[in-house]
Amino acid sequence: MMSTQNVFIIGATGNVGSELFHQIELFDKPELGKHQNPTRIIGIADSQSYFFTEAGIHVANLDSTTLNSHDWMCKRIKGLLMCQGKPFGNSGLEELLHQVRFNGLDGEVIFIDATTGGQELLEFHKAVIKTSANSIVTANKNPVALSTMDDFQTLTADRHRYGMRSTIMAGADTVVDIMDFYDTSDHIESIEGCFSGSLGYICSMLEDGDAVFSQILREALEDGLTEPDPRDDLNGLDVARKLVIIARCLNFPVCIEDVSVNSFIDLEKYESVRSVEEFLEATKQEDEYFANLLTSARNDGKKLRYVGRIKIEEKNIKMSLGLELLDPDSSLATLRGAKNKITIFSAIHRNGYMIEADGAGAEVTANGIRRDLLPMLQHRRCGMYSI
Ligand SMILES: NC(=O)c1ccc[n+]([C@@H]2O[C@H](COP(=O)([O-])OP(=O)(O)OC[C@H]3O[C@@H](n4cnc5c(N)ncnc54)[C@H](OP(=O)(O)O)[C@@H]3O)[C@@H](O)[C@H]2O)c1
Repeated sequence: MMSTQNVFIIGATGNVGSELFHQIELFDKPELGKHQNPTRIIGIADSQSYFFTEAGIHVANLDSTTLNSHDWMCKRIKGLLMCQGKPFGNSGLEELLHQVRFNGLDGEVIFIDATTGGQELLEFHKAVIKTSANSIVTANKNPVALSTMDDFQTLTADRHRYGMRSTIMAGADTVVDIMDFYDTSDHIESIEGCFSGSLGYICSMLEDGDAVFSQILREALEDGLTEPDPRDDLNGLDVARKLVIIARCLNFPVCIEDVSVNSFIDLEKYESVRSVEEFLEATKQEDEYFANLLTSARNDGKKLRYVGRIKIEEKNIKMSLGLELLDPDSSLATLRGAKNKITIFSAIHRNGYMIEADGAGAEVTANGIRRDLLPMLQHRRCGMYSI
């Protein structure tokens, strides 16, 4: 019997959320005949309000001319929330669960977390997993990286109800493969990776030598390659959260404080600097340091990379990250630009198991979320695409 996979997108007005809406509208239509149970959007929310309708939410006039018009989709979703949205009440996000229950849909909805939220999203994830039969797919790292290990285990106890592949490398296979290695008892000995698109881009630009550090940083910000405040990339904490998720998938009860973080530049020096503009101006102090570093790297034939490392010995795990000068034949030395790469060394994969992919971008991340939705589809079929 034909039924639908109902999704509720939280963070639908953001880069990832609106792109996800776009992709579901374009590619998960029942008339394409790909799946017996196509995906249907029954709810959208941002931080202020939500719109829920069992009938499904569609945006009219979606055609090939709007195929790549991300801004257009974002405006339409904001418009929908403005006209038909209901402001969150005192119970906050839990109201979404009440709505689903009230409409008899408990157990039939997948909530998608495409937000940047912290504690409130963690509480919501826990409420969904513990008090309902619904599921979660998240691109937001916070609930799995900044929570306790107990919370992590609660959330991920049933893999079929909790998808988080898009929390690392924008949905490439890292999370899924690491969990598979653990479940098949392939003992992982070490992991090395470049997990930051923005820091990878900066390293590549420094290597090209056409601009100084402060200029590269400014251009990366202007091109949308860094967080709105680039200090949020340079402090390394985004990469640290990814290392925590990987370690937790391997059943190590670690938290963010266990990662030895060497930030890309010494940010303590800039503690008194407030605005982003002031910070960009102040980073001119770093230009000479990086120019000298790159000259000596070039002379020695080395490559500059911001590397995350995990080393496992017996029951001990060490996690670290920082700038490194790598030999040109090392697996991470071949990386260019914003791409990410991870190499896993295990008892079985002694020569290194590698995954290389775009590490950021709304399009790939939304695709990663849809890949997490696939195993949750009832009666997913393989290679048989007509109804
Ligand atoms: N962009 C990428 O390439 C990428 C790749 C992998 C993973 N991710 C992750 O995906 C998530 C979304 O990224 P993004 O770039 O799309 O961010 P974004 O453009 O800033 O969008 C964030 C969205 O979340 C909503 N939101 C924030 N806090 C909320 C809360 N407490 N409750 C409900 N909604 C809330 C925002 O609504 P308001 O506008 O009302 O605040 C907005 O709709 C982040 O966690 C990010 O780390 C992003």
